[in-house]
Amino acid sequence: MSINDKVVIVTGASSGIGASIAVESAKLGAKVVMVGRNEEKLSKVSSDCASVGKKVKPLVINADVSKDEDVRRIIDTTVQQFGQIDVLINNAGFNKLVTIHDEKAMDAFDAVLATNLRGVVHLTHLAIPYLKKTKGNIVNVSSVAAVKPMGQTFWAYCTSKAALDHFSKCMARELAPDVRVNVVNPGPVATDFGANSGMPADLKLEIKDMVVLERISQSEEVTDIVLFLMSDRARGVTGSCFLTDNGLLLK
Ligand SMILES: NC(=O)c1ccc[n+]([C@@H]2O[C@H](COP(=O)([O-])OP(=O)(O)OC[C@H]3O[C@@H](n4cnc5c(N)ncnc54)[C@H](OP(=O)(O)O)[C@@H]3O)[C@@H](O)[C@H]2O)c1
Repeated sequence: MSINDKVVIVTGASSGIGASIAVESAKLGAKVVMVGRNEEKLSKVSSDCASVGKKVKPLVINADVSKDEDVRRIIDTTVQQFGQIDVLINNAGFNKLVTIHDEKAMDAFDAVLATNLRGVVHLTHLAIPYLKKTKGNIVNVSSVAAVKPMGQTFWAYCTSKAALDHFSKCMARELAPDVRVNVVNPGPVATDFGANSGMPADLKLEIKDMVVLERISQSEEVTDIVLFLMSDRARGVTGSCFLTDNGLLLK
């Protein structure tokens, strides 16, 4: 499948990896549906898409993927506007830094799971009839944290991403042969993720020491893999988790 003219929903499109996926998809002629909550950032990325895009302006949906009514609105508005869904990119995600001993541990767990896992499950559930019609596909943005525990305040995040990987494989099996489902598992990427998850600014330096390639990725590196997975070049790929971690797992 070439992305030209395809309807591509990108959650978390206001920032970082999702913004890059939205812009690059627009560049390739996709009808992009951008989902996020931050109006200012959504508007900036939407302008970037419009300036590189070949055809239609992106459809911007201000929605919280952890809220059921917002998830329903994402699917309904997309279908009303474009009549179909070809690709669902579940990219929205965050972490809440708490230890398991913290009195707010369960609140943090529920919040992280609600966005990183439940939102993905709900969007998948509602998008399936449309994806089956178009023989489309799903790409979920997970993390290396799905396979490697990352420290005391990452337990909820790691757990959510491990579950996301397994859910993706279950869906790849269940939705075959009509719909492919794949995962990208990035290591450290230079985005607003740290700031949005309340991490200290100097953590970047420590992260660099954690990977054998001694570097942090740019969002576009993750986007390249997502673009491959959503295209026909990956027609034989389903249920796969693509690691792009600068060799973090090797350390
Ligand atoms: N950066 C890294 O080092 C790294 C590494 C591995 C995996 N990842 C994964 O990559 C994905 C993208 O993260 P990023 O690095 O690009 O971080 P980011 O710059 O913080 O972007 C996160 C995006 O998710 C959106 N989002 C968060 N909660 C949401 C919700 N409840 N409803 C709707 N949108 C929501 C944010 O939009 P609004 O603020 O507008 O709502 C934002 O667009 C995440 O799933 C993250 O876990 C990141």
